[in-house]
Amino acid sequence: MKAITMNTLRNLKQTGEKFSVLTCYDATFSAAMARAEVEVILIGDSLGMVLQGHTSTLPVTIEDMAYHTAAVARGNQVSLLMADMPFMSYASLDTALTNAALLMRAGAHLVKLEGGAWLAETVTQLTRGGIPVCIHLGLTPQSVNVMGGYRVQGRDDAAAQQLLDDALAVQAAGAVMLLLECVPASLAARVQQALSIPVIGIGAGLNCDGQVLVMHDMLGLHAGKPARFVKDFLVSGDGTIEGAFKAYVQSVKSGQYPAEEHTFQ
Ligand code: KIV
Repeated sequence: MKAITMNTLRNLKQTGEKFSVLTCYDATFSAAMARAEVEVILIGDSLGMVLQGHTSTLPVTIEDMAYHTAAVARGNQVSLLMADMPFMSYASLDTALTNAALLMRAGAHLVKLEGGAWLAETVTQLTRGGIPVCIHLGLTPQSVNVMGGYRVQGRDDAAAQQLLDDALAVQAAGAVMLLLECVPASLAARVQQALSIPVIGIGAGLNCDGQVLVMHDMLGLHAGKPARFVKDFLVSGDGTIEGAFKAYVQSVKSGQYPAEEHTFQ
């Protein structure tokens, strides 16, 4: 696979070819994802839960994110590397610029922030400083205490319109990509149509330009009942971890994943 850039993803959106995204936190899995041709790696603050054993992403620090971003970057020269800005690391413009620079120096190609139109100025300033931004909308886990739990978002007309307005505002501010988590498939499809930038979904149905899953989830490693959108690719692949990554890439490209049973209506 040739090194993936934002231009690659924009072209894929235009041609209608889907792309795959997986979370990753270290060099060995990152190298396996490169061999499996996973286009985008997300160094997610989900590491707070799957690596550190916390019950939310809130305890994750910028130092944690920089450490894992550097490890992932050492293992992979082809996937596009997106790093999460953790809780409160972009609460002011200055903090956002300083912390995003740390992640870019660690090897990220773009950063991801959770939030809506209120982040427009931050998006513009990061972009001016040479830092591409992906905005995470829908279920935003850093706001779990405001949302009152991990729930599907954008279910009623007003919430759906708000999400669409936020998406258009951050695109106008310069965001290069959007990530939608746990929203009805019909709303994700509207956003995907309305935006010229690529839209990645998790629990957002088939009509997104790319799909993302947390690596541990798609390898069947989760405590308790998995979320509706999770599929175990270790059992549907050849039984190897690299086979699971390849099966995921193939299922996303062919439109087999996500299926109806993984989707919120
Ligand atoms: O941190 C993460 O892994 C994420 C995904 C759930 C999209 O943001």
